[in-house]
Amino acid sequence: MKTETTIHGLAASLQSARSAKKIIGFVPTMGNLHEGHLSLVREAKKICDVVVVSIFVNPTQFGPNEDFENYPRTWEQDSQLLVDVGCDIIFAPSVEQMYVKQPVVTRIQVTGITDILCGASRPGHFDGVALVVTKLFNIVQPHYAFFGQKDFQQVAVVKQFVQDLNLNVEVIASPTIRAEDGLALSSRNGYLNAQERAIAPNIYQSLLQAAQALQAGTALAEVLHGIKEHLKRVGFSIDYVEAFTPDLTPIQSTDTDVVLFVAAKLGTTRLIDNLHVKLITA
Ligand code: PAJ
Repeated sequence: MKTETTIHGLAASLQSARSAKKIIGFVPTMGNLHEGHLSLVREAKKICDVVVVSIFVNPTQFGPNEDFENYPRTWEQDSQLLVDVGCDIIFAPSVEQMYVKQPVVTRIQVTGITDILCGASRPGHFDGVALVVTKLFNIVQPHYAFFGQKDFQQVAVVKQFVQDLNLNVEVIASPTIRAEDGLALSSRNGYLNAQERAIAPNIYQSLLQAAQALQAGTALAEVLHGIKEHLKRVGFSIDYVEAFTPDLTPIQSTDTDVVLFVAAKLGTTRLIDNLHVKLITA
């Protein structure tokens, strides 16, 4: 496995693969890797000849009072995990390598679907994601790029600008990987103390209960209210509990495809999760 920290170095490393018409797969990450990230690398290995994983904690997607400075940076551990999973190249650029001119003056902004959920509670977040992912796609020029459904809205944003900007990459979304107790794996889980970690699986449990209630015919508004009350009772402060279609449009009464979304805080740690519910109609 090679590690490249510069755009030129990466281009040189990929040159022979490109001229041999090898299929290049790409998994963008911010590091502090866990099984969720590694599942994306495994997916990439199935259909690609060469797999590139980027590790870059992207400052432009963090708000001024968010955790950019404290975001876990675990280089040694990450590179060992990537060797074990068969990654071919790590791209780990510096902030200066990625953003030559600071402050950054170019924006990539997907409108509409970023007005809701994390877009509403983290202003500018998806502009930062769209900018860095566009840059990474241009730098790596992969055939396929792999993202997790855990960040459902992020995948929707990426698919939208890939289509609108005619970027030559196919975006593949993979299921959320969870701990045994149901908690969605996330680098931010490391911020939780033991007591908070014990409470955290309530998010997924409440989503599963909500899915059952929806299947049994309970009204959506009542189900969403139920999730909120449950999570508040066990100690969360709620950011949002909402439902949209898989295309992130409002739910109509005839919709049978419903995605439930939760963002909630335990102490200062913000956790997100979602569950896609397909209603069986009588
Ligand atoms: P990061 O949070 O490191 O996540 C990298 C990728 O791993 C994303 O596609 C995310 O959805 C996926 N992922 C995280 N947890 C997962 C889980 N439990 N199961 C499955 N996939 C999971 O998302 C980002 O970084 C950044 O926004 C990035 C796209 C790299 C742009 O900076």
